[in-house]
Amino acid sequence: MSDQKKNDEIHGVVAYFDDVDSVMSAARKVRDAGYKKWDTYTPFPVHGIDEAMGTKPTILPWIVLGMGLTGMACGLLLQWYTNAYDYVFLISGKPNWSLPANIPVTFEVVILFSAYTAFFAMLGLNKLPHLSNPLHKLPKFRRVTADRFAICVEAKDPNFDADRVRAILGANTSEMEDCPVDTSRAALPLWFHAVMALVTCATFIPLSLAVKGRFATSEKPRYHVWPDMDFQRKRKTQTGWEGFEDGRSMRLPVEGTIPRGELRDDFELYFGVAQGSSVPPRATYEAGSMGGEKFEWLQSFPTAVVVDEALLERGRERYGIYCGVCHGAQGNGLGAVALRAKAIDAEQWGWVSPKALQSDSAKAYTNGELFHIASHGISSMKGYGSQITPKDRWAIVAFVRAIQASQALPKAPADLPAGVDFEPVPTIKDVRLSEASVDAPASGTEPAGEAR
Ligand code: HEC
Repeated sequence: MSDQKKNDEIHGVVAYFDDVDSVMSAARKVRDAGYKKWDTYTPFPVHGIDEAMGTKPTILPWIVLGMGLTGMACGLLLQWYTNAYDYVFLISGKPNWSLPANIPVTFEVVILFSAYTAFFAMLGLNKLPHLSNPLHKLPKFRRVTADRFAICVEAKDPNFDADRVRAILGANTSEMEDCPVDTSRAALPLWFHAVMALVTCATFIPLSLAVKGRFATSEKPRYHVWPDMDFQRKRKTQTGWEGFEDGRSMRLPVEGTIPRGELRDDFELYFGVAQGSSVPPRATYEAGSMGGEKFEWLQSFPTAVVVDEALLERGRERYGIYCGVCHGAQGNGLGAVALRAKAIDAEQWGWVSPKALQSDSAKAYTNGELFHIASHGISSMKGYGSQITPKDRWAIVAFVRAIQASQALPKAPADLPAGVDFEPVPTIKDVRLSEASVDAPASGTEPAGEAR
């Protein structure tokens, strides 16, 4: 009974050794005596000490293996549940659930479970964190980190008997002491508990927000925890901005400056007027209605433009791209758009037919005026200045002049020189007739959507 009491008062019996051999031999003796709650303390790792102590290999690998397999099962189950059971979604005819596709996720879950298990089980098996140890209070014990070896048999051991332990250890050393139970206050300060409680509660906030987001509906935009650059105060084209006095985000060019490549000092080339003439406004050209102002329209071509076959060829090509759809390849005003407009009677909605370019009125324009029309349009025709470069517009003018000279809107075979086959430019009536003959609809029927 008195022994029992004594055992309660001490933490254990500590023996100090001077060398590896004596601590090893003492350890073997303690091991053979059948003690379980004891340990050796050495300044450096001692080879074979685990064998001398009878330490069994750790079971950590088995725990990790078990949890890794659990992770594998969880990963597979999760993918099966989401893809093949709860939210089946057929993608490109692929199977809803197949092992190869699930390996990456399964692998990751295995790693996740194993890594956490290895880390936390290691701490648990080592009984860490271990914030204090009564041995640390012994001044002599400190030397085990420098040049001493120690063995402590703890009183917690069911076989513990202080005298017997002293007898066993005494065979190898004479230096022994009892380690008293640490009676100093071990509890953590109150504030620490409070902070930990608060932190623990706080960790539930993201989770509860996620749960709320899953089940509740809201009309507000979702939380933007990290706005990144999504809502930066920056200037956007065509919008207001408070950063400038006039409230506009876009700046006008500084007065008197000309952007690179925008110098329009060749009046002939850029405006179709003689050098030094006043420049026609960037407005729709309407004969005689330009504020009564007289422009010295260019009669021929700008000096910068060489009129040759290459220019005509370029003009034919550009005309075909930009003008032919309306004015027709031969300039007769029967381009594809014009014909379609006729076919659906687009005039009833205000469609204006493109004009034939061989007409006397079109022939009467100066080259400068044609250039201006191609650039800025005329009346209901829009301009093509932003799509076609000035040189190409002059090429188109040259080509329009060419069709005016060659395509004289023949009316009868008699208009042509002898020997030339007469192929009259199709009239709208001809086109309508040929369209009707191609796929003559049964009388009284209307193609779908074509009822007028
Ligand atoms: C979308 C159809 C369309 C395209 C494309 C088009 N035009 Fe026109 N064009 C018109 C229409 C419509 C008129 C008649 C405008 C009016 O009188 O209101 C017209 C008129 C003209 C006239 C005046 C004819 C006259 O007798 O007064 C000229 C010249 C002309 N276009 C040249 C061109 C050139 C050159 C191009 C190619 C750069 C072109 N057009 C592209 C529809 C078009």
